[in-house]
Amino acid sequence: MKPDYDETIISHYNKIAEEYGLSSRSTMEDEIVRKKETTIIRDFVEHVAYEWRSDFAQNGEYATKKNGDKDLIILDVGCGNGYTIKCLAGDFTSYSYIGVEYNDKLRELALQQVTGLANVRVLPGDLRVRETINIKNESVDILLCQRVLINLLSHHDTKLALNNILSLVKSNGRLLFIEAFSSGLANLNNARGEFGLEPIGPAYHNKYLEDDFFSHPDLQPCPMPSFNIPKNILSTHYYVSRVLHAALLQQLQQSDWKRNSHFVKFVSTALPDGVGDYAPLQFHFFIKKGG
Ligand SMILES: C[S@@+](CC[C@H](N)C(=O)[O-])C[C@H]1O[C@@H](n2cnc3c(N)ncnc32)[C@H](O)[C@@H]1O
Repeated sequence: MKPDYDETIISHYNKIAEEYGLSSRSTMEDEIVRKKETTIIRDFVEHVAYEWRSDFAQNGEYATKKNGDKDLIILDVGCGNGYTIKCLAGDFTSYSYIGVEYNDKLRELALQQVTGLANVRVLPGDLRVRETINIKNESVDILLCQRVLINLLSHHDTKLALNNILSLVKSNGRLLFIEAFSSGLANLNNARGEFGLEPIGPAYHNKYLEDDFFSHPDLQPCPMPSFNIPKNILSTHYYVSRVLHAALLQQLQQSDWKRNSHFVKFVSTALPDGVGDYAPLQFHFFIKKGG
């Protein structure tokens, strides 16, 4: 039996599919956030592959790491309209890519998005139900999960999905989760309160995670000395767009908060990233233990 929130999620993404088609703004209207996500995902894949390639060069056989960088399999769970996979497949043409998408309309768009790319497959699948995902256990080298777990509106289901995701990844495989957290939202709302701005909540189709969500026996934080992305890298941007900009608009008695304004693009770009802890949306990098 489908969970009671399923219809809410499916009809939300049906509308998104219809409205945004193949656009990069599908599921993420904020241009700065989308751009930052795509850049970091791309750099993550490049760094992991480089690390494995260096290991291979130094140790011949994949002595200390099981994964070489040849034939890497990169899985994007909840791939939406396939925008991220299309970008990666264009940049790193020798790897294989799989997208898993639950929503039929978004999955059709993802298939369209990657038409002609022989190294990309897009599959149906519900992350809550392992049997619906036609991918072998421990076969994935790099796992990407971009704003997906927050769509599972029960704590039990997010835990289930995390275990299913982990079952797909090789030991020593790498994982990147970009997900939203309640604590970041609370900090953001405290900052808004200083200007008399109303608190904002998660969207109706989201349930934000608690800080300890990724405390899992199979997950270990993934240190990469040459690639040090703090989890709060979007903090400055959230402060600028949801506090500073909103406060100025309130002062000017303009009720229309709009995304991607000149003001936000300018100030967010001019300031250093990752100041404070005001971003609900955070980046978490892991190695799958074992092996
Ligand atoms: C916020 S969107 C992000 C899509 C894509 N990662 C992107 O960045 O554009 C969340 C995605 O998760 C998918 N999703 C929601 N529940 C899912 C489930 N149980 N199994 C697999 N995908 C799911 C949605 O259909 C949607 O495509």
